[in-house]
Amino acid sequence: MENSKKDNPSYGEVWDLYLTNRYEQIRQKRNRLPENRNSKINFPGDEWGGVSKVNTILDETFPDLSQVDELNFVEIGSGGGRYTVQIIDRYPKATVHAFDVSSRYLDVLGRRLIENSMDDRVRLTQLNENPDFIIDCLDNLGLKRQIDVFYSFDAMVHVDLQTLTTYFMTAALTLSKGGAIVMNVADATSDKGLEKLFVSSRRVFAEQGRCSAKFLWYSPDIVSSILEHLGFCVVFLNEGSRDCYFKATLVDPQKAEVIAGRAGFKT
Ligand SMILES: C[S@@+](CC[C@H](N)C(=O)[O-])C[C@H]1O[C@@H](n2cnc3c(N)ncnc32)[C@H](O)[C@@H]1O
Repeated sequence: MENSKKDNPSYGEVWDLYLTNRYEQIRQKRNRLPENRNSKINFPGDEWGGVSKVNTILDETFPDLSQVDELNFVEIGSGGGRYTVQIIDRYPKATVHAFDVSSRYLDVLGRRLIENSMDDRVRLTQLNENPDFIIDCLDNLGLKRQIDVFYSFDAMVHVDLQTLTTYFMTAALTLSKGGAIVMNVADATSDKGLEKLFVSSRRVFAEQGRCSAKFLWYSPDIVSSILEHLGFCVVFLNEGSRDCYFKATLVDPQKAEVIAGRAGFKT
């Protein structure tokens, strides 16, 4: 990962750079190898696992929504759209409100959606540093408490706890009662997570507190403590995996509203 010229790049700048430099290097190197001739990288995101992995994760984590006619999903950190396009395929009546910090990833996803005639089903928005931004966007669309699933895959492994908590709060204030967060975070207590933590710490040591593409580490206890205080019922789905995967169903919206009032969020 190359450093930005600025001392303290934002999340968005870090990921713009990842896409233009690191992704391109990985793509060219992997696609040259003869053993990868049947699994070439075609889109940003393919380097983290292909369609079958995405579908297995969606099968294991997404709630059964077969009874619901019109669905509104929020996706955080949509990247090149690895999950977005599968969700659009699976749920013919769903609209995805996709948010990302990186303008370059949003451009790539915008082109991919047009090529797949899916652009009328996905609303792409670049995030900024306003913590109420997503709430305001959804309010402006008349979607107050209308969101069915608030999901994010392989993006929240890169954010700090305050950022993650702001997204949890945003979900708690925008989901309908019974709606769910579906997400993964990096789990420092799983065997595979611990191994990644050991082998990567030395490599990322110099990045210290700066925004970067390194992992930030949590545990199921941290996730359930925060989400239960915000009125969610949490189920973990991460057996044997490196990350902590969870589905958190909003059972008591009032709880988050009280905390949000204290914390200054728009309610
Ligand atoms: C590893 S990629 C995963 C992309 C996609 N979800 C996937 O699985 O292919 C991480 C994505 O999260 C986005 N991201 C990083 N920090 C973020 C933040 N604080 N808020 C929202 N998105 C963020 C990046 O721009 C990038 O698109």
